[in-house]
This record gives sequence, structure tokens and C-alpha cells, in this order.
Amino acid sequence: MFKPSPRPCQVSGFLDGGLYELPRGRFRQSNLFLEMCRIDDAFVKVPSFGGLDYHNRYLWSDVRPDHPIRFAEAMELKANIADAFVKYPAFVAFADLSRDIIIDVPSLETESPVGFLLQRRRFLQQIESLTVPDARLAHYLLIHRLHYERLREIGWVGIPESRFCYFQRIRSRFFGFGRPTYTVLPGIVQQPVRGTALWNMYKPALGDLADSWKEYRGIIARQIEPLLQEETVHFYDWNPKNFILDSADGRVWYVDSKPTTFAGREENQHNLYGIRSFFLRR
Ligand SMILES: Nc1ncnc2c1ncn2[C@@H]1O[C@H](COP(=O)(O)OP(=O)(O)OP(=O)(O)O)[C@@H](O)[C@H]1O
Ligand SMILES: [Mg+2]
Repeated sequence: MFKPSPRPCQVSGFLDGGLYELPRGRFRQSNLFLEMCRIDDAFVKVPSFGGLDYHNRYLWSDVRPDHPIRFAEAMELKANIADAFVKYPAFVAFADLSRDIIIDVPSLETESPVGFLLQRRRFLQQIESLTVPDARLAHYLLIHRLHYERLREIGWVGIPESRFCYFQRIRSRFFGFGRPTYTVLPGIVQQPVRGTALWNMYKPALGDLADSWKEYRGIIARQIEPLLQEETVHFYDWNPKNFILDSADGRVWYVDSKPTTFAGREENQHNLYGIRSFFLRR
């Protein structure tokens, strides 16, 4: 059922909602929610354990996270998923929607650390036993696709072309020996962007941008300032690593593909303050 991933790996080789074997590569956890790898001409991103856990706990349930950058909108809610899938049939073409498995959510509030570890192990086992996409994974792709469309509609900064599909990860235990496990994950294939992240333009020792980047402030500000409107500002994770300037043509790109229902508000405000101070108010 799962096709080998096209090689060379590039966005145009994938279809939304398609089933592919996860391309081989050294996937690394970038921060909290994703594992990713640059393969040929694409970034391939799949959720980490923490990413699946967060989605399962707060976005695929009625429990509201404490302080997200924004709360889910109607179309992103599990309650409205049937309507959303009418608009995006590709995500359910191969999914077994009857399989809305109940996953025990590991919770730090469990009384004992041993209890927490046991719960976490059970959660991992449940994830690993998934062999066809289910409604929960379809929802994960759906909310990423909705967010992508929203960002492209807002414009001003470039949003790399992306596809949202299912991957089968084959893992063999014991250094290549033993019976392999087949796990299904949702994932994003994204066009790589060339350039320098805003994060790398800042020199902590100077408390300012490195001299060679100061001349780009105006170009960056012209593209970022329009996003700061009340209606749009909360659709971005303002981590300066997410914004990349291609100095060859002056285009700023935003590469983070997660809906901002995932990230924390407080840290985002702090990052936004940094971006305002160093890139906009001069
Ligand atoms: N399409 C891309 N082109 C160029 N660089 C990229 C691209 N996607 C990701 N990167 C680089 O990898 C970093 C991490 O990617 P991304 O922002 O998607 O995940 P993250 O924010 O680290 O994950 P988490 O969800 O765990 O916080 C980016 O800050 C950027 O430097
Ligand atoms: Mg990021």
C-alpha cells in the first residue's frame, strides 16, 4: 500500500494525503515537536513523540492547552472534522476513520514518576502499533494544511511549497536484526529555502545585528511589518530561526510549518519583542 518515496526527493514528487515509505535519512529532533531531515531537494518533517503527544492531548481532544499563541478555530476542531474532510478528501482517501483509537495520554500529573513512565510506554506502544492512517493522523495533516493555506493567503513573506502526506517508518530493532516495526506517521515535505535566518544575523556581544546585515534591515522590515496586524500576528511563531532572508533576491521566507495552536504564547511574545527591537524600530 505504501509507495517508495520518489528519489531524488522533491516536493513535486509527493501528493497530499499520499502514502509513502519514509525516505531514508538521519532524522533529528529540531526542538520539541518535530524530527526532520534534509533529503535531496526537500525538508521532510515528521512529529516527534512530543509532537504527537501534544496533538493528541490538546488538539484532538476537548482539553484546552494553557497558553497557546492562539486557540483552534472552528474548522480545526475535531467536532467539525467531517465538514473539513469534505473539502479535503485526499487526507481521508487511505485513512481508516473507524479507527478512532483512544490513546491514554501520559500525564505529568500522574502521582508517581513510575506511573508516568508506564503511561508513556503504553502511549509509545499504541503509536507504534498503527499500521494505517486513522482519523487522528488525518486531523494532524488537515490542520497543517489549513495553516499553510492561511499563511500563503496572508503573503508578504514567502511560504515554501509543501505537501502533507503519510509516511511508513520501518525500524529494525537490534542493529538491523530482529523483526522490523512498521509505524505510520503524518508528515510534511517542504521546499528548502536558501539564506540566513534572522537568528544568525544577531551578535549577542554587540547587542545588535552584525555589521554586514544592518543594510538588510529595511528590506526585512518591509516584509515583516505587515504581518504584525492584530488579525495576523498570532499565525506566526516569531522564533527568529523561522525567518530566513535570501540575500540574493531580498526575499524573507517563513519556514515553520506548525499551526500556532502548538506553541506557547509567552515565549512567542518574547521572540516578537526581539524581532521588533532588532529588525523593525530603526
Ligand atoms: N524549508 C526549509 N528551508 C530551510 N531551512 C529550514 C526549512 N525548514 C526548516 N529549516 C531549518 O530548520 C529549523 C527547524 O525547523 P522548524 O522551524 O520547522 O522546526 P522547529 O520549530 O525546530 O520544531 P519544533 O516544532 O520542535 O519547535 C528552522 O528554524 C530552519 O533553520
Ligand atoms: Mg521553528
